[in-house]
Amino acid sequence: MKTGQKIDFPKFSDPRGNLSYLEGRNHIPFEIKRVYYLYDVPDGAKRGSHAHKALHQIIIAMHGSFDLMLDDGKEKSKIHLNRSHYGIYIGPCTWRVMDNFSSGSICLVLASEDFDESDYIRDYNHFLEYVGKNGN
Ligand code: TYD
Repeated sequence: MKTGQKIDFPKFSDPRGNLSYLEGRNHIPFEIKRVYYLYDVPDGAKRGSHAHKALHQIIIAMHGSFDLMLDDGKEKSKIHLNRSHYGIYIGPCTWRVMDNFSSGSICLVLASEDFDESDYIRDYNHFLEYVGKNGN
């Protein structure tokens, strides 16, 4: 699966509202070991601004909307997430920044590994050096 790829989850709509679900083995290209979420993000805040060496993630706008900037060291793209029935896949060695959070929005993240600070690259120049060496 390519970074930035959209994964649509099943959606059941009826007069009582919508229901979506995701099944790890059917919809997610890795085993989910961790789930975390960003909420109460103040107006104008930026989240992310890092890359991971090995982590795979899916990002979902569980509520509200935000922008996701993706950068593989060569190309940058921007995706606006605003519905909870799809997610965006982010593979290793991708610099990501999230901003433009709407009021009350919730960003849900599914991750392939437990939290590990040593998997983070938090400096952009170090990231460019790392992807240069690791043949992204
Ligand atoms: P940080 O990586 O700065 O957030 P963002 O996703 O916006 O880049 O994480 C904020 C703090 O939370 C940081 O001290 C690390 C901690 N943290 C955990 O302890 N476990 C987790 O699963 C995550 C995602 C973060």
